Amino acid sequence: MIEVSNYDFFDYDYAQYWKVREYEDSAEKHVLRRIFSDKKGKWFVDIGGSYGRLTPTYYNKYTNPIILDYSLKTLQRNYSVIKKQFPNIELIAANAYHMPFRDNICDGGLMVRVLHHISEPETYFKELKRIMHNDSTYVQEFANKINLKASLRAIAHLNFKFFSREPYQQPTSKNFEGTEMGQEAIFFNYHPSFVSKVLNNIGFNIQNKYGCSYLRFQALKKILGDNNMLKIEYFLQKLLKTTNIPPSIIFETKLQKPEPKQELKTDGLKDILVCPKCFGELTFKDTSAHCKCCDRTYKKEDNIWDFRIV
Ligand SMILES: C[S@@+](CC[C@H](N)C(=O)[O-])C[C@H]1O[C@@H](n2cnc3c(N)ncnc32)[C@H](O)[C@@H]1O
Ligand SMILES: [Zn+2]
Repeated sequence: MIEVSNYDFFDYDYAQYWKVREYEDSAEKHVLRRIFSDKKGKWFVDIGGSYGRLTPTYYNKYTNPIILDYSLKTLQRNYSVIKKQFPNIELIAANAYHMPFRDNICDGGLMVRVLHHISEPETYFKELKRIMHNDSTYVQEFANKINLKASLRAIAHLNFKFFSREPYQQPTSKNFEGTEMGQEAIFFNYHPSFVSKVLNNIGFNIQNKYGCSYLRFQALKKILGDNNMLKIEYFLQKLLKTTNIPPSIIFETKLQKPEPKQELKTDGLKDILVCPKCFGELTFKDTSAHCKCCDRTYKKEDNIWDFRIV
């Protein structure tokens, strides 16, 4: 069983985090808008999409977008606001390691600020490959282990082992995102070569690499202000995109696999849902879905289907 970072455990309200981070928010959206500018398709899944912060970057590009997140409470809390702004979006509570979708169904996918909670990226990417079809686009952001600040710190401490491709688990004392201070947390920074190797081995070929949040320094924010920071950020995004300097890296990938795309007769969410445990067919009745194969029942609570399993 792989452990999941459960934001519901401490009732963590992630939307609050972004109230004071306009620079980082705009920097990420700038990259994503560039990536999605020439994309289009049907089913799209924003994995760990939370309260839909990034939905404006892909919403008009895919006709059937889905936010999938393990935090049922986040989806329930934000349902009305999200649906008001983005009426076509579907919200589903599920685990990224066990997604409740048929094989070869998605035209596009995105994961931002979530991979640090994924302790077994290879297992996750294999599950992702199952639901994505051949030639689909997948965008993966991750916290860069060897960013400039961390590398300088390692050099200053003569800690050259730090530069290995091994994932770096952040100390519990420094992070309490989705947990409380001092609690064990799943929080990994990944080496870009590690992420690209795992993606490539599974069939996600990297088409483009982008960097993001080059100026993530509190002092600079106070001196320059968000607008000036963003002007410099956009310049650096072009200039340094191939380097491993930024704290956040984004890979745009294309999946290559032999299986053909699933052609479905209708467009509804229920047509693409299967049991996340055994991939059996589901029988829907009002607010419940039953899998005959493994005899599990999933419920819809406060507008959100709960397909979470571990
Ligand atoms: C830091 S937030 C990022 C939210 C959003 N992607 C963004 O950038 O604004 C991480 C999100 O990942 C979700 N998450 C963590 N582990 C997950 C898993 N195994 N499956 C699905 N969602 C997960 C959390 O519930 C949380 O909403
Ligand atoms: Zn089942």
